Amino acid sequence: MDLVLYSVDDEGILTLTLNRPDKLNALSLDLMDALDAAIARAEKDGSVKAIVLTGAGDKAFVAGADISQFSRLNALDGARFAQRGQDVFGRLEAFPGVVVAAVNGYALGGGCELALACHLRVASENAVFGQPEVNLGILPGYGGTQRLPRIVGRGLALEMILTGDRVGAQRAYEMGLVNKVVPAGEVVEAAQRLAKTIAGKAPVAVALSLRAVHASSLPQAQGLAYEAALFGQACATDDLKEGAAAFLEKRKPTWQGR
Ligand code: COA
Repeated sequence: MDLVLYSVDDEGILTLTLNRPDKLNALSLDLMDALDAAIARAEKDGSVKAIVLTGAGDKAFVAGADISQFSRLNALDGARFAQRGQDVFGRLEAFPGVVVAAVNGYALGGGCELALACHLRVASENAVFGQPEVNLGILPGYGGTQRLPRIVGRGLALEMILTGDRVGAQRAYEMGLVNKVVPAGEVVEAAQRLAKTIAGKAPVAVALSLRAVHASSLPQAQGLAYEAALFGQACATDDLKEGAAAFLEKRKPTWQGR
């Protein structure tokens, strides 16, 4: 059975489904490798404009790193384990098209961190987020201590990380942890719709916007200089000329992606 299902529709939206439902899609090392391979395939697949990431089954997005692997780790292995997950999630975050998480149930520990590494998050009403690592004697190691405070603010991030308490979909929306909440069963479709909207915009402008916002943790003066440099790159594209011409001619633009 494929651990990650790879399906591209005719509008270039790739849906990746983490497929280990009997273990609530817990991230074993094999599943992490399969996710890495799927992202690598997407990077080379010219038909892919955007990615939707979800979990198989109706119960879980991802219920965390595979806990059965933890007790074997010493200090060095543990650091490598965290680095591996961070590298794969970083690769996903660096994808030049938008990556939308369709959170269809539990997103705990590494599952919450995986959703955080996606650019946008759509949650089903039954989605549950949490960083329960303190209950296991560890801390988030796949980027949660860095991405969660940047998304929801330090106080709320610390509350989640230090208590391990779970957060339901509505509360996650109020915290800014998710972009929208939809009825259970509609989450993948809603995420695909959002991905399609963004995939219909000028591709270079989307890629550069992602890079600029990703740099928003730089000191402001550096971030502004970077923004100006990226703005310059966008100005050199044919798509800018096409976008401006289409506006003036009152027609839909046809993007070349350059
Ligand atoms: N690692 C390994 N296996 C996991 C897992 C994880 N993170 N989360 C769930 N599973 C496995 C369970 O061991 C169980 O396997 P089994 O059928 O062979 O016993 C299967 O997935 C189903 O989980 P179960 O606990 O029976 O489902 P539930 O509906 O009673 O509870 C959760 C769901 C998500 C609340 C519960 O599975 C849980 O707390 N998981 C761990 C969450 C966590 O701490 N994640 C952070 C890890 S750093």
